[in-house]
Amino acid sequence: MPTSKSAWDAELYEAKHGFVWKFGEGLVELLNPKPGERILDLGCGPGQLTRQIAERGAIVTGLDSSAEMIGQARQNYPDLDFVLADAATMRFDQEFDAVFSNAALHWMLDAAAVAAAISRALRPGARLIAEMGGRGNISQIERAIAKVLRENGYSFENVRRTFFPSVAEYSALLEQNGLEVRFASLFDRPTDLDGEQGMRNWLVQFAWYYFENMPPGLRLEAQDAVVNELRPKLYIDGLWQADYRRLRISAVKG
Ligand SMILES: C[S@@+](CC[C@H](N)C(=O)[O-])C[C@H]1O[C@@H](n2cnc3c(N)ncnc32)[C@H](O)[C@@H]1O
Repeated sequence: MPTSKSAWDAELYEAKHGFVWKFGEGLVELLNPKPGERILDLGCGPGQLTRQIAERGAIVTGLDSSAEMIGQARQNYPDLDFVLADAATMRFDQEFDAVFSNAALHWMLDAAAVAAAISRALRPGARLIAEMGGRGNISQIERAIAKVLRENGYSFENVRRTFFPSVAEYSALLEQNGLEVRFASLFDRPTDLDGEQGMRNWLVQFAWYYFENMPPGLRLEAQDAVVNELRPKLYIDGLWQADYRRLRISAVKG
């Protein structure tokens, strides 16, 4: 089992964290792709949802900034179109009938540039359907990581790579960029993790960067300490749960 990663680990993602795209299937229903529609899957990862959109007859492009994820997506679905690019600097111009994004926007820290790029990519009347981590997402996990980092003399805030906006914050950002928010909801989604190593695998996959400045021995110890800190709260009846809270949003380009 890997203990640390400096980038997205597509293999671990597919082996242990398939719940991300399984929950995303409901979002594909909300997208309701129609045959012939041009759709951009933003932060597509290894492409499972890109494929589901394609299966509905839409002409879909998957975009991701991780070379490892795009490599895996191309290997999984060689017939689909995948682009290696950063959402903040992508340069599509009114090319899409919809932008779709599952579990990715909260990793895109230049959110204003991403919102502007999404808006530019959509033709007038086209839609954005997205779900991301929202305000309060993984608050118990973050508290435990921050405590352990602090105890070992490392900073939490300075290395943070995610942001979890409120309904009001993300809606305002979209509206400032010419998108009319039609629906937005922030809701808890406690999420079961896979097996006894579930929380450790989660840390390695989604929180590796908090530990990457540590020497390898300390890194392992610190991850163990986070797991132990969380055990009384998130290890429930023999099952690890992540305290996810999601922001689901639908908007239309004016
Ligand atoms: C948790 S994965 C979700 C993947 C996929 N949407 C799914 O549902 O399985 C988040 C993805 O966002 C991508 N990502 C993060 N920041 C990005 C950016 N600035 N531009 C494009 N993709 C980005 C990551 O590389 C990663 O593949």
